[in-house]
Amino acid sequence: MAASALERRRAEELRQAIEYHNWRYYVLDAPEIPDAEYDRLLRELEDLEARHPELRSTDSPTQRVGAAPLAQFAEVAHGTPMLSLNNAFSEGEVAAFDRRVREATGPAEVEYAVEPKFDGLAVGLTYDDGRFVQGATRGDGYTGEDVSANLLTVRAIPMRLAGAGAPRRLEVRGEVLMLKKDFEALNASQRARGEKEFVNPRNAAAGSLRQLDPRITASRRLAFFAYGIGAWEGVPLPPTHAEVLAKLAAWRLPVNPERRVVKGVAGLLAYYRDMGAARPTLPFDIDGVVYKVNDLALQARLGFVSRAPRFAIAHKFPAQEEMTRVDDIEVQVGRTGALTPVARLQPVFVGGVTVTNATLHNQDEIDRKDVRIGDWVIVRRAGDVIPEVVSVVPARRPHPTPPRFDILARHPVCPVCGSRVVRGEGEAVARCTGGLYCPAQRKQALLHFASRRAMDVEGLGEKLVDQLVDRSLVGNPADLYALAPDTLAGLERMGKKSADNLIAAIEASKHTTLARFIFSLGIRNVGEATARDLAKHFGSLDALMNTPIESLMAVPDVGPIVAQSIADFFLEGHNRKVIGALQEAGVHWTENPPQPPPGSGPLAGMTCVLTGTLAGMSREEAKTRIEAAGGKVAGSVSKKTDYVVAGADAGSKLTKAQELGVNILDEAALLALLGKKA
Ligand code: IVH
Repeated sequence: MAASALERRRAEELRQAIEYHNWRYYVLDAPEIPDAEYDRLLRELEDLEARHPELRSTDSPTQRVGAAPLAQFAEVAHGTPMLSLNNAFSEGEVAAFDRRVREATGPAEVEYAVEPKFDGLAVGLTYDDGRFVQGATRGDGYTGEDVSANLLTVRAIPMRLAGAGAPRRLEVRGEVLMLKKDFEALNASQRARGEKEFVNPRNAAAGSLRQLDPRITASRRLAFFAYGIGAWEGVPLPPTHAEVLAKLAAWRLPVNPERRVVKGVAGLLAYYRDMGAARPTLPFDIDGVVYKVNDLALQARLGFVSRAPRFAIAHKFPAQEEMTRVDDIEVQVGRTGALTPVARLQPVFVGGVTVTNATLHNQDEIDRKDVRIGDWVIVRRAGDVIPEVVSVVPARRPHPTPPRFDILARHPVCPVCGSRVVRGEGEAVARCTGGLYCPAQRKQALLHFASRRAMDVEGLGEKLVDQLVDRSLVGNPADLYALAPDTLAGLERMGKKSADNLIAAIEASKHTTLARFIFSLGIRNVGEATARDLAKHFGSLDALMNTPIESLMAVPDVGPIVAQSIADFFLEGHNRKVIGALQEAGVHWTENPPQPPPGSGPLAGMTCVLTGTLAGMSREEAKTRIEAAGGKVAGSVSKKTDYVVAGADAGSKLTKAQELGVNILDEAALLALLGKKA
């Protein structure tokens, strides 16, 4: 049955409503209705059109998706050629452009319409009487490909121009691109499905638009910004470029909000700087800005030279991605001994500087990108971050194929100090075990050694350590103890007084504790608490250094990773040498008797409370000895207390013990207990 007048009207209402909400959502980024409501409108229209196929017009929003795959794209001859822009890379070239414009137009300051230079791909959209009829790629500038079905899947592109006054024929020129966030999401889903990731948003946009199956394009989120016209027939053309864009925007075509009108070279350069600063926070990639003479009559007078207009120019940002060759892969030793692979590159100008190195992060990254020596790679430099290798260009891999790059196979020992290199299971990073000995780690190690919780050398800060190491005055911590006041006084920002103070601080640090000393060595994974546990458990440095890895794991809280780090550290001859030198220089501590493992010792498992003053030992010493006997010292008396040790002038704790019937020991009784064998 044919559609009633009511249904016909409803279908038209729905089409307009849906296109209006597309515009609110995709162009203005300011939706008025929830997604569910939008879906309801679309479904209602689909139902109507299913019941009355004669209502299904080609410009219906239901027709945006679902076109059948093509065998190939049809060719489209451009009515007006789609030309390119000349580029300016410097302020001088911009000034020269403005001078040329003024030479042709008169001396007055010129008004320019300025816009971002979108990093996507150019298309032309043709509207006849306000209805979308065709969309084409730029191709060679004269002939492009008909990608109408794909462009219709881009919701920001209206199927009909809104309002009245649309030209009989309008060709809108603009750029199709992918927003950074949609690019990230696309790559995340490619990764999840084990498919190849796109190198950048531009490639992703191009790959998506040139799909023969529009359903694939529909599944990718593409954006579009109009920046000009190819045809405008039947209505008068506004006098300026800015007004043309305003008209396009009024017809609900997406026009970028970052556009401006400025005057003279100063205005151009200010816009360039503003957009350069805004670039990282823009939702899409730009590779520069475009300057266009605003007055269309002036534009016409200026005309074209060969394939580019004389009235416009692109002022490019320095490229942030370039292709170059990997001459070698070397490793650098970082502050924690981490070996970082670095690609040595054929020098290439990218992001405004010449780049010769790019980080490859670690072995996993090398494997993921499969970077090999001799490969051609894309390097990226964004902001002031370290340049990195984005991807390999597989087609340019040399013959014969170079071998995979394996850090450990290449560098079984540290390239800086010759110590062994290890990569822990499940760890991304390979490390030099050189520790204190490795120069690359020396400064950091010295700072750690001197820090407050380690050897506590007051006044030995970063600036000083830099000078000491850079002038080869200090190679390892033991050298600190041989420094002469005169040597120090000769350093920058060092007077005689501060030199003397530093010498005194170094001297004072010689008397320390075993726990602090172990901590100061900077053994990987050994923090302050572990150092204390180790000191307590082993009692002497010798015992710790010569213990097999299994015994290390007997220490509470020391797992296989920590134990391995400790064993690796003491396996290194250099580390042992430095320790020897430190002791020779006079670094010393009171060695504690070794601690019995828990569950042994005369006070094993017992809790003691100390009160009053003991005659023959300090409270600290009593505590140490009780702990050495396997006991624990608590601060207050309870029913769980096994012994209260009472010295002279014992107070409330003694009274409490008497009340609770807890065993009370005097000093002699304690000594007797401690003297017993377990
Ligand atoms: S105007 C006569 N404006 O840059 C040339 N182009 O190098 C008219 N582009 O193919 C081009 N943003 O793909 C113009 N705001 C902008 C642009 C822009 C990006 C691209 C466009 C063109 C290429 C020219």
